[in-house]
Amino acid sequence: MRISICENYCEMSKEAAKLIASQINLKPDCVLGFATGSTPIGMYHELCEMYKKGEIDFSSVTSFNLDEYYPIKKSNPESYNYYMWDNLFSHVNINPQKIHIPDGETLDPDKECEDYENAIAHCGGIDLQILGIGRNGHIGFNEPNDSLDTKTHVTYLTESTLSANSRFFASIDEVPKKAITMGVSTILKSKKIVMLASGSSKHHVIKELLSEKVNTAVPATLLNIHRDVVVICDKEAYYGNDTEKC
Ligand code: F6R
Repeated sequence: MRISICENYCEMSKEAAKLIASQINLKPDCVLGFATGSTPIGMYHELCEMYKKGEIDFSSVTSFNLDEYYPIKKSNPESYNYYMWDNLFSHVNINPQKIHIPDGETLDPDKECEDYENAIAHCGGIDLQILGIGRNGHIGFNEPNDSLDTKTHVTYLTESTLSANSRFFASIDEVPKKAITMGVSTILKSKKIVMLASGSSKHHVIKELLSEKVNTAVPATLLNIHRDVVVICDKEAYYGNDTEKC
């Protein structure tokens, strides 16, 4: 696992966007795995700017998002579907036929999970997966547990995640209790993984991740068994408030 410590959120976002742009320029028909949440918003903004300047072409890119609340309407501004169109897809030339986001409106979520997993395999797997990290160490919606589901599955959100994500909803009661998420092995099968972390609230969990111990109680630590992971974080996430080293 490599770590890149950036001066601030803005530098972190630029560095991540540059990695995505290099991936697209190297392999225009690459398969990208996208994440949502607050952390990658600056990166998506950078990608939109690069696209406007003619520096990247999304026309042959295929995308798979990590997760989606369940149930949730695509038209709900808090859905990850809405987020992706709002922050990236509406502003670049990605082919809508090549966009994949778990369907939060499906009546058959188990089939949706199976189809999603098969669709990723059918495209040859993910070339570059972007991840954020939950304060409790979740990746996608793979929450801390004694054992972790490996494939795309339906999961219940933990109290910690419900409470963290309630900031986007009118109240905690409106946060959907479930989600469809890629599983840990779905994520680990990606050829390259880029994790983003910003702010001192992520310091504790970044410290755990970098301790190299693998523990399902902190799902992100499973990334330690992957051979091509880069963590791009800002100084606050790496050093914490007190600028103490990890
Ligand atoms: C989002 C996702 C989540 C977030 C995590 C961090 O698609 O899968 O694992 O990456 O909850 O969220 P933020 O960036 O809002 O702190």
